[in-house]
Amino acid sequence: MVTQGSSMLIQPRSLVRYAIEGGRPLFSHPLHVGTPNIGLKEDILARIEDILDRRMLSNGGPLVKEFERRVAEIANVKHCIAMANGTIALEIAIRALGMTGEVIMPSMTFVATAHALQWQEITPVFCDIDENLHHIDSSRIEALITPRTTGILAVNLWGRPCYVEKLEKIAEKHGLKLLFDSAHAFGVSYKGNMVGQFGNAEVFSFHATKFINTFEGGAVVTNDDELAARIRLMKNFGFDGRDSVAYLGINGKMNEVQAAMGLVSLDNMQAFVAHNRENYLAYREGISAIPGLDLLEYQLEERNNYQYIIIEVDESVFGLSRDELAMVMAAENVDVRRYFYPGCHRMEPYRSYYPMAYLQLPTTERILERVLAFPTGNAVQPDDVARITNLLSRIHRDRRYLEAVLASRREAVAG
Ligand SMILES: Cc1ncc(COP(=O)(O)O)c(C=O)c1O
Repeated sequence: MVTQGSSMLIQPRSLVRYAIEGGRPLFSHPLHVGTPNIGLKEDILARIEDILDRRMLSNGGPLVKEFERRVAEIANVKHCIAMANGTIALEIAIRALGMTGEVIMPSMTFVATAHALQWQEITPVFCDIDENLHHIDSSRIEALITPRTTGILAVNLWGRPCYVEKLEKIAEKHGLKLLFDSAHAFGVSYKGNMVGQFGNAEVFSFHATKFINTFEGGAVVTNDDELAARIRLMKNFGFDGRDSVAYLGINGKMNEVQAAMGLVSLDNMQAFVAHNRENYLAYREGISAIPGLDLLEYQLEERNNYQYIIIEVDESVFGLSRDELAMVMAAENVDVRRYFYPGCHRMEPYRSYYPMAYLQLPTTERILERVLAFPTGNAVQPDDVARITNLLSRIHRDRRYLEAVLASRREAVAG
């Protein structure tokens, strides 16, 4: 029980003490967002042993080639060029496409999307997002086009695809390149067609936190033969022969151990997706009854990877702010994340370059204050999800009590 102000007593409606007030956490160990999915250990180790026996560790070994072939097959695209990570894949795709000057992109993304441009002295121009999908708002893009604009870098955030046709139409009308950051969207379809074949090219990430991982890793995929050939050279210092270099290049190569991990990951892809889907449905069922919490839904008729569980918190209905809820959950060992707070435009160097950018991004700003990512993946079971959603219900019921607990904590810290 806590006192609020001088006299009012507020009691919790449930009997269990919350961890934030000294009770035992709901989970004995932290559940994280993005705990890696690991395929069969024996398979990974067997493939690594083969690599060591072969003494072919990198530079286009057989496992990287097999990984590229299988990724291209799944994404239903002609070319896949595997890379050391998704960020270098973005950088190389941007350069190979000839993007310069300004490129229009959303601020609501992992900062690597913006850095991949700025690293090459290209100005990211932040466009506001659409309220429902959290994607770049295509109706606002044309107003941002200047003579220096060379492209659009759209993000298939949370593994949900953008409205591709609208973006393609704008790009075509203005002669712009269109690149998709599909770091979240491997194994996903849009209107029945697999993500990977849209725009001039798309980029996947296979970072450890993604549902298919190569420890670190990424890939550019495209149907453009000429672009693919250029990217293939660029990611290997520009070498087009033993002693001949055709382009400015860099080392973006994926190595064989990464590919080994990726291949075992792909062997287990169906199981990973099925598990994520079960967790997603359990979240959906639990969340639907809680006022003020909105789960971002996947279209069940499409192919999804279900790797992000994104919940929007409406403070005025739920009773606690997003950040207050995050504090209560963290204490219970549910390590929810405020992705991608505070937005690229509020991170350096963009914050210093464009201090007023937020004025142009009202929806981005609003959504960034409401979103929480919840744990899923192989390390989280549907039973865990049921415990998490029960906890969320309990928190909502006890919202007035918890508000008072949090207020007294703040007072204690301040005073
Ligand atoms: C939207 C987005 N773009 C790009 C990246 C960068 O990928 P990587 O970590 O493989 O470099 C990530 C994160 O992992 C991401 O979430």
